[in-house]
Amino acid sequence: FASNSEISKRNKVVNVAHRGASGHAPENTMAAFHEAFKMKADYIEIDVQMSKDGELVLIHDTTLDRTTNGTGYVGDHTLEELKQLDAGSWFSDEFAGEKIPTFEEVLDAFRGKIGILVELKSPELYPGIEEKVANALKERNMDKPRNNKIIIQSFNHDSVLTTKSLLPRIPVGVLAGMSWKDVTDQELEEFASYADYFNPNMNILDAELVDRIHDIGLDIWPYTVREKEQADRLLKLGVDGIITDFPEYVYDHPGRH
Ligand code: G3P
Ligand code: CA
Repeated sequence: FASNSEISKRNKVVNVAHRGASGHAPENTMAAFHEAFKMKADYIEIDVQMSKDGELVLIHDTTLDRTTNGTGYVGDHTLEELKQLDAGSWFSDEFAGEKIPTFEEVLDAFRGKIGILVELKSPELYPGIEEKVANALKERNMDKPRNNKIIIQSFNHDSVLTTKSLLPRIPVGVLAGMSWKDVTDQELEEFASYADYFNPNMNILDAELVDRIHDIGLDIWPYTVREKEQADRLLKLGVDGIITDFPEYVYDHPGRH
């Protein structure tokens, strides 16, 4: 029999606002993070990259073109240049003037208020980014236990391993795109040797794979839910968290206590 704590753990699905509540406000901006907080999401997911002068900044694409009024690579611009950009108007006029936030600004504004799922985005472009992230957390005494609600993940699994060695007490996750559809038990065992989370593209999951991942001891937080039906399917499959642009889709599920 499952213990009570196991049952309640299975029924409590962690609600992760992807790039903030990015269905409602421009992704990776303070506006999107505040919206996620107002909507009572459990975590915000953020994409961390590095400016030319070595500052940690939050933006998804490696180029500025889609989500700001700038152009070119993020890493070719200094923080001062990045801070002059408008990261809100592309979404709607209402958000004109939103800035690209720094990692440290978000830690200072949201630590203790909402969990932060930190994605190291394309870390191979930014040598030393793992140390910078680790230092920002250590300076704030946030490199300790799980109750800080900080998790670090990446599609770059070498970067996840580096992060784990720098921050042994912070839980880490491996992101897994469609190419991991046929992931073997051996590969899952290897992930489980250092990671706590296996966070896949939701489309690779079926009941059998969910069971195999759980049996190996990893939690599963799939991405990216943009429709209610997708959330419902994942909730039925018994995932542990859901990464979504629309936190409202993860509430009010009959299985959620
Ligand atoms: O948190 C996982 C998800 O964000 C990964 O995909 O492209 O939205 O960063 P992407
Ligand atoms: Ca991301």
